[in-house]
Amino acid sequence: YSLEKHNTFHIPVKTRWFMEYDSEDDLERILRDEYFQECLSLHIGSGSNLLFLNDYNGIILHSNIKGIHLAGETEKSVLLRVGAAEKWDDVVAYAVSNGWGGIENLSLIPGETGAAAIQNIGAYGAEAKDVIETVEAYNQLSFQKRIFTNQECEYAYRTSYFKNEHNDPHIITYVNLRLQKNPQFSINYGNLKEELAKYPGITLSTIREAIITIRKEKLPDPEIMGNAGSFFMNPVITTDHFEKLKVNYPSIPSYPSSDGKIKVPAGWLIEQCGFKGKSHGTVGVYEKQALVLVNLGDARGHEIALVAESIRTAVNERFGIELVPEVKYVG
Ligand code: EPU
Repeated sequence: YSLEKHNTFHIPVKTRWFMEYDSEDDLERILRDEYFQECLSLHIGSGSNLLFLNDYNGIILHSNIKGIHLAGETEKSVLLRVGAAEKWDDVVAYAVSNGWGGIENLSLIPGETGAAAIQNIGAYGAEAKDVIETVEAYNQLSFQKRIFTNQECEYAYRTSYFKNEHNDPHIITYVNLRLQKNPQFSINYGNLKEELAKYPGITLSTIREAIITIRKEKLPDPEIMGNAGSFFMNPVITTDHFEKLKVNYPSIPSYPSSDGKIKVPAGWLIEQCGFKGKSHGTVGVYEKQALVLVNLGDARGHEIALVAESIRTAVNERFGIELVPEVKYVG
């Protein structure tokens, strides 16, 4: 079974089995199945953050649990219960059209809602963790369902309890989002304010439109050019390290990070190393955003991994910074 349509790099690897389930009962039946337990397995969303290095000799599992339901309401907020397979951007569009705020800055991020909760997706000053109230998940080893509070999800920059390999593997079935009826807008990131000035006023809809415009300008559409968004995470370094770099690179951009450290945009580091807009065979470094690797034709996973490795080496040699992939390698 080809996975070409199940990864946004559009790498034509195959999997031995591909399984989808429509309900929690179905999922539980699969998890309890002895053959399933013996096989290698991997749960995927829409594959917008995956790099397949070779064919998958096991079971690729995919949720088909969809739906957006109003699960609660107060004077000021609503609680939406969203099936893990619901496309994230459909959830954003739905929230915005109902006047519920909190995820408008996360417009047009590819992928499904379950993955958004695992990865703590973020953009333009917002993160999924800011609105996730609880996450419903099945423990793959004990088959028990558990409802994780936001705190129990242990959210941090692009990570969570669910990404930590020391924890039991879990499969997310529903995500509960708390959205605001009278939201406070967050428009201070990058050039969002500038873009918004072109629209008639600041509303959830205009913020969504402005963000869609900015993203389309900077990020390649995976349908046209295979990619998985930011390939690396933005590194966090000590203030000491940063001050030293600033001597040689006075224009180095930075953002404060939570623990008194400093976050540096990986895209800038990669651009400084001369990779931006360059290609190596069928693998390109996107001309408008050096943090995005693109499939220019029929690139294979290991070819993309090789380019990523040469970027890591160059950035490390020049800046003493180890880039960590945001994309998950499989195989
Ligand atoms: N920059 C460069 N050259 C480049 C790219 C970026 O110099 O080629 C510098 C510029 O100074 C720019 C700064 O980096 O001002 C930040 O760039 P940008 O606003 O594009 O954001 P980013 O830090 O590269 C992060 C997320 C994106 C998210 C944007 C917007 C990560 C790993 N990536 O990218 O998320 O859309 O912010 O909020 O944190 C993703 O995770 O897949 C993703 C696309």
